[in-house]
Amino acid sequence: MKKSLEKLLTISTVHDPFKPQKVRITDIEELAPDHKKFSFVFLEDELNEKWSHKPGQFVMLTVPKAGEIPISICSSPTRKGTIELTVRKVGRKTEVLHSMKCGDILGLRGPYGNSFPVDLMEGHNVLIIAGGLGMAPLRSLVWYVLDKREKYKEVYLLYGTRNYEAVLYKDELRRLKERDDIRCLYILDRVETEDDKAWTEKEGLITSLIPEVDLDPSDTYVAVCGPPVAYRFIGAELIKNGYQESKVFVSLERKMECGVGKCGHCQVGYKFTCVDGPIFPLWDTKNLPKMI
Ligand SMILES: Cc1cc2nc3c(=O)[nH]c(=O)nc-3n(C[C@H](O)[C@H](O)[C@H](O)COP(=O)(O)OP(=O)(O)OC[C@H]3O[C@@H](n4cnc5c(N)ncnc54)[C@H](O)[C@@H]3O)c2cc1C
Ligand code: FES
Repeated sequence: MKKSLEKLLTISTVHDPFKPQKVRITDIEELAPDHKKFSFVFLEDELNEKWSHKPGQFVMLTVPKAGEIPISICSSPTRKGTIELTVRKVGRKTEVLHSMKCGDILGLRGPYGNSFPVDLMEGHNVLIIAGGLGMAPLRSLVWYVLDKREKYKEVYLLYGTRNYEAVLYKDELRRLKERDDIRCLYILDRVETEDDKAWTEKEGLITSLIPEVDLDPSDTYVAVCGPPVAYRFIGAELIKNGYQESKVFVSLERKMECGVGKCGHCQVGYKFTCVDGPIFPLWDTKNLPKMI
């Protein structure tokens, strides 16, 4: 508990990290069926200037009359002033959130958790692998790396979804593909409709893109987020292609209540996903029981 508290106290010196602050919805974008991106600003001006996070961290969002939910931050800390969260409607709390409008007020506390190791990645290649909603936390990393482009070598983004309809941030990802400072490979489980074909000619699982990546694996850090069932296969394919286990980082989710290492809901073995994660080295996921 002492370790968790120490970590927390270093997270935010701006305000009490345990107390939700009021935020207002300033924009809502429908990204795909049941997926919306919400933009928030703090009611307190000072917080908009000072609040910051690192790619991979999450917040606890208070949805009025429904409860609190942990949500990854999908905006980059390099673009301050607005916090963006992409939320899939799966149950009661996310349903209430999806019914909310611009101008509505919610509570937000955090940021919590560790982050993708952006400092360690400096001076190396970065390979980002996203599946489905896993693109949300990784969008934060993509923009962070691109906004600090001179600090990194080659940058790749691999992104897979079920079909075109499920692709998040479509316009943004199309524009990313046109840039020459990041190489993007997109894939769909099945390429059937005209929309699917216009998006990519690649059909299959995201693992099939890994051999196409033209990087020196020994000089590459990898960030992965997607359905945990895919992690075993992605991990195995990365190792087969020469990537080093110690340089592969995955994001995990668990049911969370407090987000600060107190309630034990997110515990896996001796680790708490909320304070020791949500980003873990591949080694942990393979060697600690029931991680994935
Ligand atoms: C660190 C972290 C980051 C997250 N980031 C995002 C994000 O960026 N966008 C997003 O849409 N969701 C994210 N989630 C998941 C999100 O918190 C849940 O979907 C939400 O709490 C569900 O609340 P609900 O009341 O609508 O649904 P509930 O009624 O609580 O649950 C509906 C269904 O979803 C399952 N479920 C709920 N929470 C989780 C979970 N944490 N992991 C796996 N299954 C779950 C339940 O078992 C149930 O089957 C994140 C979770 C964590 C822990
Ligand atoms: S969510 Fe309470 S200990 Fe992690």
